[in-house]
Amino acid sequence: MGHHSPAAVWDYRIAHEVSKDWNGNSQIMLRNPQGASARVSLHGGQVMSWKNEQGEELLFTSTKAIFKPPKAMRGGIPICFPQFGNCGHLEQHGFARNKLWSIDENPPPLPPNDSNGKSFIDLILKPSPEDLKCWPHSFEYRMRIALANDGCLSLISRIRNVNGKPFTFSFAYHTYMSVSDISEVRVEGLETLDFLDNLSQRERCTEQGDALTFETEVDRVYLSCPNAIAVIDHGKKRTFVVRKEGLPDVVVWNPWDKKSKAMLDIGDEEYKQMLCVDGAAVEHPITLKPGEEWMGRVELMVVPSSFCSDHLDLQ
Ligand code: BG6
Repeated sequence: MGHHSPAAVWDYRIAHEVSKDWNGNSQIMLRNPQGASARVSLHGGQVMSWKNEQGEELLFTSTKAIFKPPKAMRGGIPICFPQFGNCGHLEQHGFARNKLWSIDENPPPLPPNDSNGKSFIDLILKPSPEDLKCWPHSFEYRMRIALANDGCLSLISRIRNVNGKPFTFSFAYHTYMSVSDISEVRVEGLETLDFLDNLSQRERCTEQGDALTFETEVDRVYLSCPNAIAVIDHGKKRTFVVRKEGLPDVVVWNPWDKKSKAMLDIGDEEYKQMLCVDGAAVEHPITLKPGEEWMGRVELMVVPSSFCSDHLDLQ
């Protein structure tokens, strides 16, 4: 008998388990051989939890979160589609995060790198007759959520126009990162970029100076960003690395104290433990002609901060 590393004997076909949450909706647990995990709900296709191999939670979930459909719970990674933000007659951040998704039993293939050595689940969302009333476009939205051997979490969205006419959407992976204390956090990769400031009617401004730090409410869409961003948490001495593809923009959001107090589903002080940094397509919405497909992906990794500055090429 030869020696097998844990990865070699890990059976990726059984590396996910389906169970029911307390609302009766299915949720899927992904695990890797090192003990990292991710939990995904069919409600919203939302990643609810992502843990490293030490079992530490990496995503923020509010203690006041409401786990009851039809609204997305406050935390994890809600999907904003077919719009990011609040314009026109569609609900804020679109309906995808509030809908019941299905497991996609027969997804069109993805490149081998998106499957090999990964635990993953494929989900699908198609519009209901009710969705078609407020957004009259037939689409198939397929999403793969994968947990790799190194603990990296990736989300790959493929949205196809199965309509007779073109349609346009904006998009974000609204990623709630769990941080030690917002005053200890620095975001690198956004220096000198232009951004739209949601706190002043999406006025276009330019980021000055060094890495972004936080002393007040921030609600911005950074434009044409590099494909890797680092969120450095000095308190926990760890760094989130966000790599993205097909998503030119990055949303950065922290509600700070006043807004948190006004929100029902977040504790008054909890803004200190969270930061949203989202791969997004906002400034230039995506248009799909009939039969066309768009793909947008993020890969999230958490590494010790010392490792990051020495080894990671953020470009
Ligand atoms: C941010 C928006 O991305 O999401 C904010 O820019 C908004 O304006 C926040 O408040 C949370 O949105 P929601 O709908 O989940 O409360």
